[in-house]
Amino acid sequence: MTEIKKKRDGFGSKIGIIAAAAGSAIGLGNIYRFPCELGNNGGAAFLLVYLVVVIFLGVPVMLSELAIGRRSQSNAVGAFKKLAPKSAWPLVGYLGVLCGFIIFAFYSTVSGWTLEYIVKAVTNSFRGKDLATIEQDFADFHNMGWRNVMWQAVFIFLTGFVVFKGVQDGIEKYAKILMPLLFVILVVLGIRSVTLPGAGEGLSFLFKPDFSKITGKVLINALGQGFFSLSLGMGVLITYGSYIKKSDNLTSTAFSVVIADTLIALLAGIVIFPAAFSFGINPKAGMGLVFNTIPMIFNQMAGGYFFCIIFFVLLAIAALTSTISLLEVVVAYVSEQLHIKRQWATIVACAISLLVGAFASLSLMENTPFTICGKTMFDAMDFISSNVMLPLGGMLIVIFVGWKMGKSQFFAEVANEGALKAPMKAIIYFIIRYLAPLAIAVVFVTGLIK
Ligand code: PFF
Repeated sequence: MTEIKKKRDGFGSKIGIIAAAAGSAIGLGNIYRFPCELGNNGGAAFLLVYLVVVIFLGVPVMLSELAIGRRSQSNAVGAFKKLAPKSAWPLVGYLGVLCGFIIFAFYSTVSGWTLEYIVKAVTNSFRGKDLATIEQDFADFHNMGWRNVMWQAVFIFLTGFVVFKGVQDGIEKYAKILMPLLFVILVVLGIRSVTLPGAGEGLSFLFKPDFSKITGKVLINALGQGFFSLSLGMGVLITYGSYIKKSDNLTSTAFSVVIADTLIALLAGIVIFPAAFSFGINPKAGMGLVFNTIPMIFNQMAGGYFFCIIFFVLLAIAALTSTISLLEVVVAYVSEQLHIKRQWATIVACAISLLVGAFASLSLMENTPFTICGKTMFDAMDFISSNVMLPLGGMLIVIFVGWKMGKSQFFAEVANEGALKAPMKAIIYFIIRYLAPLAIAVVFVTGLIK
């Protein structure tokens, strides 16, 4: 065994764990990616499938990851090495580390946009502009490829800085205060959005499902979005689970994170769609949907200037707590398994991510040469990691817990070696062992065939 024997960093308080795990889950996936996916996949029909995914798969998969992490006291790769020595299971961890790299690379592109939009908000550059101009500004910004890369580099540097400082005082401190603030500002925005003229149509789009729209593509996109939004399938929660104290309740942590994450995504939907329909923005607008709709709402609000700044600052921080978790998976693996100093691991991981991520940013320019099979590199990285690698990783993780780690170890971990009752453990274990692997496999195969 190649584990480091030093004392591992850990989360200090119960709220610290939930805040850090929720900080990882809540991010651009909720506020940017969720509305894009919903808009492109039939509206309410997508929401329905998405809710089924997060309710039935979210908690079991999350609990599996937390249990693996805390039982093994190790990173995404080391965990499998410890719990299943001399087997092929550590490959699941390697898949996760690779996936973390890919997600960090393209996620940091959009994270960089939040910084550009903070500058736009501070310099009051949305004020008085009509939709066509705001849309044109967004398109022009994409065509400034190197400006995108510059902001991406700043964002990667910020992430590296926090991870460099270590788990406890890095992640916990930031996440605890700021996520509730994001919730509050989304509520304020939601109220403005639903009271705009013509908002009802947007609410129908969001909440009135047309069942004929549920296709294989919708299923796989909703599955991918569920895993992406909850940060599942690549070992973030294995890594974080290893920092959780033995006396903390894993089940309630998993429930709290799933509920918080889903609430924020729903709120984002309530903010975006009524306003988008009111302003005449196409719900299938994709990347522009959120970045054009939000400034338009603030233009219609008393105090819009200040709210707009606060919103984009909080969005950047939400993105930051997610990129921290992505980088943490890679750094924990490199430093513990390869015995490279944490600081060096952070620097090297950030440099490689920027190198790969720059292609994602530059692939969004008009006439870009950076495409693969007709997709921009950004879309290709997003698709392969979110819709293929995360569900695959999630499926292997539940199979591991259900069939390899086994009931007694899982129960012991979830019930804190008998100190807790954990009344839901049997039903959750049943889902982990039978339903979750089957459901993921079916959706996966249907989606890929279609
Ligand atoms: N869950 C994050 C979000 O919704 O923005 C993104 C993410 C973070 C995905 C960490 C995967 C991950 F491992």
